[in-house]
Amino acid sequence: MRQDWSLDRIPDLSGRVMVVTGANSGIGYEAARALARHGAEVVLACRSGEKAEAAAGRIRAESPSASLEIVPLDLADLASIRAFADTLRARKSRLDALINNAGVMALPRRTTRDGFEMQLGTNHLGHFALTGRLLELLLATPRSRVVNVSSMAHTFGTIRFHDLQWERRYSKWGAYGQSKLANLLFTHELDKRLKETGSDTISVACHPGWAATNLQEVGPKMAGSKLMETLSAWGNAMLAQDAAAGALPTVFATVEPLKGNEYVGPTRMMGWHGPPEIVQPLPKARDPETAERLWEVSEDLTGVHYAFD
Ligand SMILES: NC(=O)c1ccc[n+]([C@@H]2O[C@H](COP(=O)([O-])OP(=O)(O)OC[C@H]3O[C@@H](n4cnc5c(N)ncnc54)[C@H](OP(=O)(O)O)[C@@H]3O)[C@@H](O)[C@H]2O)c1
Repeated sequence: MRQDWSLDRIPDLSGRVMVVTGANSGIGYEAARALARHGAEVVLACRSGEKAEAAAGRIRAESPSASLEIVPLDLADLASIRAFADTLRARKSRLDALINNAGVMALPRRTTRDGFEMQLGTNHLGHFALTGRLLELLLATPRSRVVNVSSMAHTFGTIRFHDLQWERRYSKWGAYGQSKLANLLFTHELDKRLKETGSDTISVACHPGWAATNLQEVGPKMAGSKLMETLSAWGNAMLAQDAAAGALPTVFATVEPLKGNEYVGPTRMMGWHGPPEIVQPLPKARDPETAERLWEVSEDLTGVHYAFD
Protein backbone atom coordinates (compact mmCIF):
# COMPACT_ATOMS: atom_id res chain seq x y z
CA MET A 1 0.00 0.00 0.00
CA ARG A 2 1.24 3.49 -0.87
CA GLN A 3 2.43 5.49 2.12
CA ASP A 4 0.82 8.86 2.85
CA TRP A 5 3.17 11.77 2.24
CA SER A 6 4.69 13.05 5.48
CA LEU A 7 7.48 15.32 6.71
CA ASP A 8 9.82 12.28 6.74
CA ARG A 9 10.04 12.78 2.97
CA ILE A 10 11.84 16.14 3.30
CA PRO A 11 15.44 15.76 2.11
CA ASP A 12 18.44 17.50 3.67
CA LEU A 13 17.96 21.18 2.80
CA SER A 14 21.35 22.46 3.99
CA GLY A 15 22.56 25.41 1.95
CA ARG A 16 19.09 26.19 0.54
CA VAL A 17 17.61 29.60 1.17
CA MET A 18 13.82 29.79 1.54
CA VAL A 19 11.58 32.78 2.19
CA VAL A 20 8.20 32.21 3.87
CA THR A 21 5.79 35.14 3.94
CA GLY A 22 3.52 35.23 7.00
CA ALA A 23 5.86 32.80 8.77
CA ASN A 24 4.82 33.82 12.27
CA SER A 25 1.44 32.09 12.27
CA GLY A 26 -0.57 29.09 11.08
CA ILE A 27 0.54 27.39 7.89
CA GLY A 28 3.50 29.69 7.26
CA TYR A 29 4.84 29.02 10.74
CA GLU A 30 4.46 25.25 10.43
CA ALA A 31 6.09 25.23 6.99
CA ALA A 32 9.00 27.39 8.19
CA ARG A 33 9.42 25.14 11.20
CA ALA A 34 9.54 21.95 9.10
CA LEU A 35 11.92 23.41 6.49
CA ALA A 36 14.27 24.85 9.14
CA ARG A 37 14.34 21.53 10.97
CA HIS A 38 15.68 19.94 7.78
CA GLY A 39 18.53 22.41 7.41
CA ALA A 40 17.10 25.18 5.18
CA GLU A 41 18.09 28.77 5.88
CA VAL A 42 14.63 30.21 6.39
CA VAL A 43 13.82 33.90 6.10
CA LEU A 44 10.73 34.79 8.14
CA ALA A 45 9.05 37.55 6.12
CA CYS A 46 6.58 39.06 8.59
CA ARG A 47 4.90 42.41 9.19
CA SER A 48 5.23 42.23 12.99
CA GLY A 49 8.78 42.01 14.32
CA GLU A 50 7.48 40.99 17.72
CA LYS A 51 5.42 38.08 16.37
CA ALA A 52 8.32 37.02 14.11
CA GLU A 53 10.74 36.98 17.08
CA ALA A 54 8.28 34.88 19.09
CA ALA A 55 7.90 32.41 16.19
CA ALA A 56 11.68 32.19 15.72
CA GLY A 57 12.05 31.56 19.46
CA ARG A 58 9.57 28.68 19.32
CA ILE A 59 11.36 27.09 16.35
CA ARG A 60 14.79 27.49 17.97
CA ALA A 61 13.51 25.96 21.21
CA GLU A 62 12.93 22.66 19.42
CA SER A 63 15.67 23.01 16.73
CA PRO A 64 18.56 24.91 18.35
CA SER A 65 20.65 24.82 15.17
CA ALA A 66 17.84 26.22 12.98
CA SER A 67 19.07 28.93 10.63
CA LEU A 68 16.45 31.71 10.81
CA GLU A 69 16.50 35.31 9.79
CA ILE A 70 13.74 37.87 10.23
CA VAL A 71 13.21 40.49 7.54
CA PRO A 72 10.21 42.84 7.85
CA LEU A 73 7.61 42.63 5.09
CA ASP A 74 4.19 44.23 4.83
CA LEU A 75 2.50 42.94 1.69
CA ALA A 76 -0.09 45.71 1.92
CA ASP A 77 2.60 48.29 1.16
CA LEU A 78 4.57 48.33 -2.11
CA ALA A 79 7.37 50.36 -0.48
CA SER A 80 7.82 47.68 2.19
CA ILE A 81 7.95 44.99 -0.52
CA ARG A 82 10.65 46.92 -2.35
CA ALA A 83 12.65 47.38 0.88
CA PHE A 84 12.32 43.66 1.69
CA ALA A 85 13.59 42.67 -1.76
CA ASP A 86 16.50 45.13 -1.54
CA THR A 87 17.51 43.71 1.84
CA LEU A 88 17.26 40.13 0.65
CA ARG A 89 19.28 40.80 -2.49
CA ALA A 90 21.97 42.48 -0.40
CA ARG A 91 22.17 39.59 2.05
CA LYS A 92 21.67 36.49 -0.12
CA SER A 93 23.22 35.23 -3.31
CA ARG A 94 20.57 32.56 -3.88
CA LEU A 95 16.86 31.95 -3.31
CA ASP A 96 15.75 28.34 -3.65
CA ALA A 97 12.11 28.80 -2.69
CA LEU A 98 9.84 31.79 -2.32
CA ILE A 99 6.77 30.64 -0.41
CA ASN A 100 4.00 33.17 -0.98
CA ASN A 101 1.85 32.16 1.98
CA ALA A 102 0.69 35.26 3.89
CA GLY A 103 -2.97 36.04 3.55
CA VAL A 104 -6.13 37.61 4.88
CA MET A 105 -9.69 36.32 4.46
CA ALA A 106 -13.17 37.82 4.33
CA LEU A 107 -12.34 41.19 5.87
CA PRO A 108 -14.66 44.17 5.95
CA ARG A 109 -13.59 46.36 3.00
CA ARG A 110 -10.19 47.89 3.68
CA THR A 111 -7.49 49.20 1.36
CA THR A 112 -3.74 48.79 1.31
CA ARG A 113 -1.35 51.76 1.57
CA ASP A 114 -1.41 51.96 -2.22
CA GLY A 115 -5.22 51.93 -2.40
CA PHE A 116 -5.80 48.31 -3.47
CA GLU A 117 -8.69 46.32 -2.00
CA MET A 118 -6.97 44.58 0.94
CA GLN A 119 -7.51 40.90 0.01
CA LEU A 120 -6.45 41.32 -3.63
CA GLY A 121 -3.70 43.71 -2.51
CA THR A 122 -2.20 41.39 0.12
CA ASN A 123 -2.93 37.93 -1.24
CA HIS A 124 -2.23 38.54 -4.93
CA LEU A 125 -0.77 41.97 -5.84
CA GLY A 126 1.66 42.02 -2.89
CA HIS A 127 3.01 38.59 -3.77
CA PHE A 128 3.06 39.46 -7.47
CA ALA A 129 5.24 42.49 -6.72
CA LEU A 130 7.43 40.55 -4.29
CA THR A 131 8.07 37.73 -6.77
CA GLY A 132 8.90 40.20 -9.55
CA ARG A 133 11.37 42.01 -7.32
CA LEU A 134 13.05 38.71 -6.35
CA LEU A 135 13.01 37.24 -9.85
CA GLU A 136 16.69 37.90 -10.52
CA LEU A 137 17.70 36.00 -7.38
CA LEU A 138 15.33 33.13 -8.23
CA LEU A 139 16.64 32.90 -11.81
CA ALA A 140 20.22 32.88 -10.52
CA THR A 141 19.48 29.82 -8.35
CA PRO A 142 19.40 26.42 -10.09
CA ARG A 143 16.00 24.67 -9.92
CA SER A 144 14.46 27.34 -7.69
CA ARG A 145 10.69 27.64 -7.27
CA VAL A 146 7.84 29.92 -6.33
CA VAL A 147 5.13 28.31 -4.19
CA ASN A 148 1.80 30.14 -4.07
CA VAL A 149 -0.67 29.24 -1.33
CA SER A 150 -4.16 29.31 -2.80
CA SER A 151 -7.44 27.87 -1.52
CA MET A 152 -10.51 25.86 -2.38
CA ALA A 153 -12.11 29.32 -2.30
CA HIS A 154 -10.75 29.80 -5.84
CA THR A 155 -13.77 27.74 -6.94
CA PHE A 156 -16.19 30.61 -6.20
CA GLY A 157 -13.81 33.34 -7.36
CA THR A 158 -13.99 35.31 -10.57
CA ILE A 159 -11.59 37.99 -11.78
CA ARG A 160 -13.77 41.10 -11.98
CA PHE A 161 -11.74 43.13 -14.43
CA HIS A 162 -14.54 45.72 -14.54
CA ASP A 163 -14.26 46.32 -10.78
CA LEU A 164 -11.11 44.54 -9.57
CA GLN A 165 -10.92 46.62 -6.37
CA TRP A 166 -14.61 46.13 -5.43
CA GLU A 167 -15.31 49.87 -5.47
CA ARG A 168 -18.89 49.51 -6.76
CA ARG A 169 -20.23 46.71 -4.56
CA TYR A 170 -18.17 44.84 -1.96
CA SER A 171 -18.46 41.16 -1.11
CA LYS A 172 -15.92 40.02 1.48
CA TRP A 173 -16.13 36.39 0.30
CA GLY A 174 -16.20 37.39 -3.36
CA ALA A 175 -13.01 39.39 -2.80
CA TYR A 176 -11.35 36.43 -1.05
CA GLY A 177 -12.37 34.06 -3.87
CA GLN A 178 -11.03 36.50 -6.47
CA SER A 179 -7.68 36.80 -4.67
CA LYS A 180 -7.27 33.03 -4.35
CA LEU A 181 -8.21 32.46 -8.01
CA ALA A 182 -5.61 35.14 -8.83
CA ASN A 183 -2.98 33.09 -6.95
CA LEU A 184 -3.60 30.16 -9.31
CA LEU A 185 -3.72 32.26 -12.48
CA PHE A 186 -0.44 33.88 -11.42
CA THR A 187 1.09 30.44 -10.82
CA HIS A 188 0.02 29.34 -14.29
CA GLU A 189 1.21 32.45 -16.13
CA LEU A 190 4.50 32.69 -14.24
CA ASP A 191 5.32 29.06 -14.98
CA LYS A 192 4.46 29.56 -18.64
CA ARG A 193 6.70 32.63 -18.93
CA LEU A 194 9.56 30.87 -17.10
CA LYS A 195 9.36 27.91 -19.49
CA GLU A 196 9.21 30.19 -22.53
CA THR A 197 12.53 31.72 -21.48
CA GLY A 198 14.12 28.30 -20.92
CA SER A 199 14.53 28.82 -17.17
CA ASP A 200 14.58 25.83 -14.78
CA THR A 201 12.82 27.91 -12.11
CA ILE A 202 9.25 26.67 -11.66
CA SER A 203 6.04 28.07 -10.24
CA VAL A 204 3.65 25.80 -8.33
CA ALA A 205 0.61 26.19 -6.08
CA CYS A 206 -0.92 24.47 -3.10
CA HIS A 207 -3.80 24.77 -0.66
CA PRO A 208 -4.16 23.56 2.94
CA GLY A 209 -7.76 22.34 2.85
CA TRP A 210 -9.35 23.63 6.03
CA ALA A 211 -6.85 24.23 8.83
CA ALA A 212 -7.50 25.83 12.21
CA THR A 213 -5.41 29.03 12.21
CA ASN A 214 -5.86 32.73 12.96
CA LEU A 215 -7.16 33.25 9.41
CA GLN A 216 -10.78 32.58 10.32
CA GLU A 217 -10.94 34.97 13.29
CA VAL A 218 -9.32 38.08 11.78
CA GLY A 219 -12.33 39.10 9.64
CA PRO A 220 -14.98 38.67 12.38
CA LYS A 221 -12.75 40.53 14.88
CA MET A 222 -12.27 43.42 12.47
CA ALA A 223 -16.01 43.56 11.86
CA GLY A 224 -16.68 43.39 15.63
CA SER A 225 -18.94 40.36 15.13
CA LYS A 226 -18.89 38.15 18.23
CA LEU A 227 -21.37 35.78 16.57
CA MET A 228 -19.14 35.19 13.53
CA GLU A 229 -16.10 34.85 15.79
CA THR A 230 -17.88 32.15 17.81
CA LEU A 231 -19.09 30.37 14.67
CA SER A 232 -15.59 30.47 13.17
CA ALA A 233 -14.05 29.08 16.35
CA TRP A 234 -16.71 26.35 16.42
CA GLY A 235 -16.08 25.50 12.75
CA ASN A 236 -12.36 25.25 13.38
CA ALA A 237 -12.83 23.04 16.44
CA MET A 238 -15.32 20.69 14.75
CA LEU A 239 -14.20 20.52 11.12
CA ALA A 240 -10.65 21.73 10.59
CA GLN A 241 -7.38 19.85 10.63
CA ASP A 242 -4.54 21.37 12.62
CA ALA A 243 -2.11 23.92 11.15
CA ALA A 244 0.72 21.36 10.94
CA ALA A 245 -1.43 19.09 8.75
CA GLY A 246 -2.54 22.14 6.76
CA ALA A 247 1.12 22.98 6.04
CA LEU A 248 1.90 19.57 4.48
CA PRO A 249 0.78 20.60 0.94
CA THR A 250 3.00 23.70 1.18
CA VAL A 251 6.01 21.64 2.25
CA PHE A 252 5.29 19.01 -0.44
CA ALA A 253 5.09 21.77 -3.08
CA THR A 254 8.39 23.19 -1.82
CA VAL A 255 10.52 20.03 -1.67
CA GLU A 256 9.12 17.36 -4.01
CA PRO A 257 10.46 17.11 -7.57
CA LEU A 258 7.82 18.86 -9.72
CA LYS A 259 7.65 20.07 -13.32
CA GLY A 260 5.84 23.36 -12.72
CA ASN A 261 2.23 24.57 -12.51
CA GLU A 262 1.18 21.66 -10.26
CA TYR A 263 -1.43 22.27 -7.56
CA VAL A 264 -0.99 20.32 -4.32
CA GLY A 265 -3.71 19.78 -1.73
CA PRO A 266 -5.22 17.37 0.78
CA THR A 267 -7.06 14.43 -0.67
CA ARG A 268 -9.67 13.38 1.87
CA MET A 269 -13.06 14.79 2.94
CA MET A 270 -13.62 16.70 -0.32
CA GLY A 271 -10.12 18.18 -0.07
CA TRP A 272 -10.54 19.61 3.45
CA HIS A 273 -8.27 17.12 5.21
CA GLY A 274 -5.65 14.47 4.67
CA PRO A 275 -2.24 13.89 3.18
CA PRO A 276 -1.15 16.00 0.22
CA GLU A 277 -1.09 14.93 -3.41
CA ILE A 278 -1.25 16.66 -6.75
CA VAL A 279 -4.86 17.78 -7.27
CA GLN A 280 -6.66 19.72 -9.98
CA PRO A 281 -8.03 23.25 -9.70
CA LEU A 282 -11.10 24.27 -11.69
CA PRO A 283 -10.28 24.90 -15.38
CA LYS A 284 -10.87 28.66 -14.91
CA ALA A 285 -7.72 28.74 -12.75
CA ARG A 286 -5.67 27.91 -15.85
CA ASP A 287 -7.55 29.95 -18.41
CA PRO A 288 -4.74 31.38 -20.58
CA GLU A 289 -6.50 34.61 -21.57
CA THR A 290 -7.54 35.51 -18.02
CA ALA A 291 -4.08 34.63 -16.72
CA GLU A 292 -2.36 36.85 -19.28
CA ARG A 293 -4.74 39.75 -18.73
CA LEU A 294 -4.40 39.54 -14.96
CA TRP A 295 -0.61 39.54 -15.36
CA GLU A 296 -0.69 42.72 -17.43
CA VAL A 297 -3.08 44.46 -15.03
CA SER A 298 -0.92 43.38 -12.07
CA GLU A 299 2.22 44.80 -13.70
CA ASP A 300 0.43 48.10 -14.32
CA LEU A 301 -1.03 48.33 -10.81
CA THR A 302 2.16 47.43 -8.93
CA GLY A 303 4.64 49.04 -11.32
CA VAL A 304 6.70 45.84 -11.12
CA HIS A 305 7.63 44.64 -14.61
CA TYR A 306 9.16 41.20 -14.75
CA ALA A 307 12.53 40.92 -16.50
CA PHE A 308 13.16 37.28 -17.37
CA ASP A 309 16.51 37.76 -19.04
N1 LIG B 1 -6.39 28.05 7.26
C1 LIG B 1 -7.10 27.60 6.23
O1 LIG B 1 -8.04 26.80 6.37
C2 LIG B 1 -6.78 28.05 4.84
C3 LIG B 1 -7.54 27.53 3.78
C4 LIG B 1 -7.23 27.89 2.49
C5 LIG B 1 -6.16 28.74 2.25
N2 LIG B 1 -5.45 29.25 3.29
C6 LIG B 1 -4.35 30.17 2.97
O2 LIG B 1 -3.22 29.85 3.77
C7 LIG B 1 -2.40 31.02 3.91
C8 LIG B 1 -1.93 31.16 5.35
O3 LIG B 1 -3.04 31.40 6.16
P1 LIG B 1 -3.19 30.79 7.63
O4 LIG B 1 -4.39 29.92 7.61
O5 LIG B 1 -1.92 30.24 8.12
O6 LIG B 1 -3.61 32.11 8.43
P2 LIG B 1 -2.91 32.92 9.62
O7 LIG B 1 -2.57 32.02 10.73
O8 LIG B 1 -3.82 34.07 9.88
O9 LIG B 1 -1.58 33.44 8.95
C9 LIG B 1 -1.59 34.47 8.00
C10 LIG B 1 -0.24 35.12 7.97
O10 LIG B 1 -0.26 36.15 6.98
C11 LIG B 1 0.27 37.32 7.57
N3 LIG B 1 -0.18 38.53 6.92
C12 LIG B 1 -1.43 39.00 6.76
N4 LIG B 1 -1.41 40.19 6.14
C13 LIG B 1 -0.10 40.48 5.89
C14 LIG B 1 0.57 41.55 5.31
N5 LIG B 1 -0.08 42.64 4.85
N6 LIG B 1 1.91 41.52 5.21
C15 LIG B 1 2.60 40.46 5.69
N7 LIG B 1 2.01 39.41 6.28
C16 LIG B 1 0.68 39.42 6.38
C17 LIG B 1 -0.20 37.25 9.02
O11 LIG B 1 0.53 38.16 9.82
P3 LIG B 1 -0.04 38.64 11.27
O12 LIG B 1 0.11 37.47 12.20
O13 LIG B 1 0.83 39.81 11.60
O14 LIG B 1 -1.49 39.00 11.06
C18 LIG B 1 0.14 35.79 9.31
O15 LIG B 1 1.50 35.64 9.54
C19 LIG B 1 -3.24 32.19 3.39
O16 LIG B 1 -2.80 32.55 2.10
C20 LIG B 1 -4.65 31.62 3.30
O17 LIG B 1 -5.43 32.23 2.31
C21 LIG B 1 -5.72 28.92 4.57
